[in-house]
Amino acid sequence: MGHNLVMSIFPIFLLLSIAYADFDVTSSKYGGKPNSDISQPLAKAWSDACASTSPSRIIVPKGTFQLKGASFKGPCKGPIEFQVDGTLQAPQDGAQLIKADTWIEFANLERLTLMGTGTFDGQGQKAWKENDCNKNPKCSSIAINLRFNSVKHSLVKDVTSLNSKNFHVNVLGCEQLTFQHFTVKAPGDSINTDGIHIGRSTGINITDTNIGTGDDCISIGDGTKQLTINKVTCGPGHGISIGSLGRYNNEDHVTGINVKDCTISNTMNGVRIKTWPNSPIATTASDIHFEHITMNNVGNPILIDQEYCPYGQCNTQTPSKVKISNVSFKNIRGTTTTAEAVKIVCAKGLPCDKVVLSDIDLKLTGKGTLTSQCANVQPTITQVPQALACATKK
Ligand SMILES: *[C@@H]1O[C@H](CO)[C@@H](O)[C@H](O)[C@H]1NC(C)=O
Ligand SMILES: *[C@@H]1O[C@H](CO)[C@@H](O)[C@H](O)[C@H]1NC(C)=O
Repeated sequence: MGHNLVMSIFPIFLLLSIAYADFDVTSSKYGGKPNSDISQPLAKAWSDACASTSPSRIIVPKGTFQLKGASFKGPCKGPIEFQVDGTLQAPQDGAQLIKADTWIEFANLERLTLMGTGTFDGQGQKAWKENDCNKNPKCSSIAINLRFNSVKHSLVKDVTSLNSKNFHVNVLGCEQLTFQHFTVKAPGDSINTDGIHIGRSTGINITDTNIGTGDDCISIGDGTKQLTINKVTCGPGHGISIGSLGRYNNEDHVTGINVKDCTISNTMNGVRIKTWPNSPIATTASDIHFEHITMNNVGNPILIDQEYCPYGQCNTQTPSKVKISNVSFKNIRGTTTTAEAVKIVCAKGLPCDKVVLSDIDLKLTGKGTLTSQCANVQPTITQVPQALACATKK
């Protein structure tokens, strides 16, 4: 009996001995109150948690809190769990933010877990109305909801990003960062509100995530390697996009992109790779695989466009210098709103290599006749209806 008691209590002591040190922003030490600005309380709670050598937990409990901005910087002494169950609201007017291009930033961290049932509300309605960046190259900076800069071996789980003024999430220079059961929400007509943008990062994993927004659900920039996108639903939005690539002279390669078991609904595009003509340097985009994707009312469901040039800003005479190879589209079915459902237009003089189209079945919901176009590419095609199997070749 005595022995059994000791045996059953012992694991409890073990648990207690690794208990988190809690840093609740609403505790008397930090003084955060619902319906008020918690920029200062949160900054203080962060600096205490970051200095803690035992695992620490920052807590933003249920309730609505205002936040002018936050910069959560490491390196920190121990792992940090950041639990947000409340709603954090950015000021509607971007001029009131602490930093014009960023609302909340996580930087130089390892072993961070950002989790909870909470919402990061960027209150972007005013910013979208005023956004003139497509006509005005000198437009003022617009804040991204959540930036992850150099964050490694970390997890973002369950939280929601709502109505960001600009991109919802920007991932830069990160490694082994997972987004799991993450949500992005903004109206389909909100401007430039990409869900998750990734650049110069390795080992990012986006899984079991729901993204509805006004621009790309996920956009993949240069230097992205070993990215897994699994069980993501996308829509409204512009789809899942690699690129645009090949515009700037310091770009790195893109490789190892796996997009699997996703559903894309009511979007402008499905899955695409886009590169600019007249690239200043030669790079590659390789080992890119799209598999088991359901398309519901999607425009341009399968698209490689190496002549991407919005607003006629480029010299289209010189082809893109981004070499695309080892790209597959497998088991892609559902409905398309554009008659040209498959378009693979590669660069003149730099054809795409090892492109596979297999098991594709798309029905047209709009007007016209289903068709496809391929240029500067000779895909391997199996189980694809004739209309979708490079009906037009160049
Ligand atoms: C991505 O994350 C999910 C959830 O944590 C996990 O099940 C899966 O194995 C991960 N995939 C990779 C390639 O890391
Ligand atoms: C194509 O990509 C896959 C997955 O990344 C990789 O395993 C395979 O080796 C690549 N094939 C070639 C010919 O490069």
